[in-house]
Amino acid sequence: MKTALVTGACINTGVAIVEKFASEGYHVLFTGRNEESVEKAEKAYRERFPDVTISGYTIDSLLDAKTVDEQAISDLFAFADHRGFEIDTLVLNAADQGLGIKVLENPLADFMRVLNTNVTWNYCLCEHAAKRMINQGGGNIIFINSNTAYRAIPDRVAYSTSKGAQLGMMRALALDLGKYNIRVNAVLPGMIKTDRWEKNPEFYKTVPSRFTPLGEVAVGEDVADAVWYFAAHAKNTTGAELVVDGGNTIQLYPIIPQ
Ligand SMILES: NC(=O)c1ccc[n+]([C@@H]2O[C@H](COP(=O)([O-])OP(=O)(O)OC[C@H]3O[C@@H](n4cnc5c(N)ncnc54)[C@H](OP(=O)(O)O)[C@@H]3O)[C@@H](O)[C@H]2O)c1
Repeated sequence: MKTALVTGACINTGVAIVEKFASEGYHVLFTGRNEESVEKAEKAYRERFPDVTISGYTIDSLLDAKTVDEQAISDLFAFADHRGFEIDTLVLNAADQGLGIKVLENPLADFMRVLNTNVTWNYCLCEHAAKRMINQGGGNIIFINSNTAYRAIPDRVAYSTSKGAQLGMMRALALDLGKYNIRVNAVLPGMIKTDRWEKNPEFYKTVPSRFTPLGEVAVGEDVADAVWYFAAHAKNTTGAELVVDGGNTIQLYPIIPQ
């Protein structure tokens, strides 16, 4: 069964990515951290896409801030093997947003938690997936990165660091895995409309889209389309970065509308 494994896909951007792959005829294995949310999302996906197999799996990245749960990753892939999911595409969407981490105040453990989820956990997922892709003759690994890998935002030092590191890892994996016909690429969204928009209407009313050349920020489907481009179309592309931010980061400074 040709399958996409999408991490962090009970809510927001991950949902759009699952829906894109399912609508293109892929079977999908997705993850979330909360069993109830995973079950609810699985039910909704199955109702919407009855012609493909969609399974949810509950997994958390870490045992504690400093320790990746390697056994949980082995268990996830054993589950995939057992169910006959041949993981052709791995979409690394889940992320610790590392909100409000201040360089002068937060303990080191907060920084390590974000790095360990966004970098080390994803590295382990890539390793397990790549071994299977090699046996299948190739595959795709796609990071959902961020334009904060290029430009920093306040109090997100751990997140920005992790997204920068992800790009280095993406290129190194692209180099090492190219000979196995595994392509490794990254989508770099700017701001995406998520449920956080409804939770912070005042902030979102005044800030992001007005500073973007295209005048609008991305929705999940924009990110999913970029992921699909790498998976289905960009056959001679690896180690590449596709920015989906309405032109936000091409500016020397944001053009503030009057
Ligand atoms: N939203 C934006 O404006 C924006 C901008 C640029 C880049 N991005 C990137 O786009 C991707 C999706 O963003 P989003 O805003 O849609 O994400 P989100 O709403 O924050 O959801 C992230 C997902 O990651 C999962 N997750 C978080 N910590 C985890 C952990 N320790 N172990 C396992 N899973 C974990 C969450 O699981 P639960 O469902 O269990 O909480 C959730 O499903 C991320 O990689 C993000 O960095 C987002």
